[in-house]
Amino acid sequence: MKKVIIRKTEEIENWRRNINSEINFIPTMGNLHNGHIKLITTAKNDNSNVNLVSIFINPLQFDNKFDLENYPKTIENDIKISFENGADAILIPSTEDIYPTNNKNVKFLKAPIELTSALCGLNRIGHFDGVCTVVYRLLNLIKPKNLYLGEKDWQQLLILKNLVLTKKLNIAIKSIPTQRDFDGIPLSSRNVHLSKNERKLIRFFSSELLEIKKNFQQEKKINLQEIIKKLSEKKISIEYLEHLHPHTLQKARLEDNISLLAGAIRCGETRLIDHVFLMKRKPIIAIDGPAGSGKSTVTKLIAKKLKLLYLDTGAMYRSLSWLLLKENIDYKKEKNLQNFLKDISIVFKSNTNLNQDVFINNHCVTQEIRSQEISSIVSKISSIKEVRKFLVEEQRRIGETGGLVAEGRDIGTTVFPNAELKIFLTASIEERAKRRKSDKNCKDSQEIDLNTLKELIEKRDFEDSTREISPLIKANDAIEIITDKYSINEVVDKIIDLYNDKIPKETQIQ
Ligand code: PAF
Repeated sequence: MKKVIIRKTEEIENWRRNINSEINFIPTMGNLHNGHIKLITTAKNDNSNVNLVSIFINPLQFDNKFDLENYPKTIENDIKISFENGADAILIPSTEDIYPTNNKNVKFLKAPIELTSALCGLNRIGHFDGVCTVVYRLLNLIKPKNLYLGEKDWQQLLILKNLVLTKKLNIAIKSIPTQRDFDGIPLSSRNVHLSKNERKLIRFFSSELLEIKKNFQQEKKINLQEIIKKLSEKKISIEYLEHLHPHTLQKARLEDNISLLAGAIRCGETRLIDHVFLMKRKPIIAIDGPAGSGKSTVTKLIAKKLKLLYLDTGAMYRSLSWLLLKENIDYKKEKNLQNFLKDISIVFKSNTNLNQDVFINNHCVTQEIRSQEISSIVSKISSIKEVRKFLVEEQRRIGETGGLVAEGRDIGTTVFPNAELKIFLTASIEERAKRRKSDKNCKDSQEIDLNTLKELIEKRDFEDSTREISPLIKANDAIEIITDKYSINEVVDKIIDLYNDKIPKETQIQ
């Protein structure tokens, strides 16, 4: 494809008509560094869309004339960098082009007060209004499928996500983690203004934040006043340092698993921001739903794609049922069951097929637990209070450090009520019966006729959702996905998009 530079906004429409492809859009203000390069290469590697980089120093988002006048301008080099790294087109409009005088189509927007009442919003009056105005204008002109933004400007990212949502734009926002220089400071176009001494100060600030993040994993708390005192002693001029909820930007609460520690410091004339996400444990995805909703297949694929541990709680209940049958235990007698549960060990191990095997007391039972015999008793056994209590404790133990995706029926409600993302996966009985029938791993089901399978599924749903302990119900904060009309990959991609939207990319780096 011929690489083009577009300098007039009216040329965009024509260009768009000719490309015959969706657009990835990477907005910038120029003076491109490795952070921008990462945005461009991420877009290029994500899909086969056309990549458009815009370079426009937006006067509306500068609250300081000096800052605007001194903003570094390196246009020739920016063009070279963009094309070399995967841009197919570069938009370099003039201010008059973006904000034509007397053009009623230009809407001057206001960023939402909830998201501008903290961090940079407090001191940079009008800054986020300017960002919203220019990005909305550019999105309307370019009409991209995907918008690529850096997490370095986390507050800007939240505000622009909100803009896309409230304006009902059909655009996916993809973020990349903060890119840091060799000495740990976040890459920023304004870094060129730093003197040696100023760079030393920001280095100390950034390394402090990274150290706090590391220690937080053990200590699970911070003392903001102490941190501020330590930074001030190093003569660091702090504009703000706040510990907040990463999405609402309200004060962080004790129960928040992921929180944001963000600060801005002044180095001479330059103002620099940096942040870290503090995590008590790695994120957890809870996927609940009835039998045959596609949970297992979907959960396994998500675990692989996001490099998370796969916790198949259904396999744990099935394994226990298998052993109870094998050892012929009369589980209705409480004492028998208590003695039995004392010596149970359930372990998951990856196998050579890149799947995982389940072992109960050293028996590999991956295949056997899928029989109709086990299917017919597992719901009853999993409704026994002692069994439930025992396995929920085991599951929580496995999930203590997070970093997993768990599937079951009570994950979001009972096992991990604080999971970062809760999905309730379901499908019509008809569809679920069809899936069971064609499930190659479930030989018994292939021999049962469709109507009987439907009845069995209905019976199982009834048992699961009416049992006294941990019934199958959708958690209040779970997102329901009805999978009838979607392929497995579509469901997986949807859940991964939801995950990426909730969990900063920076916390996903292993
Ligand atoms: O992050 C930036 O560089 C700017 O705020 C943006 C998104 C290009 C809007 O001018």
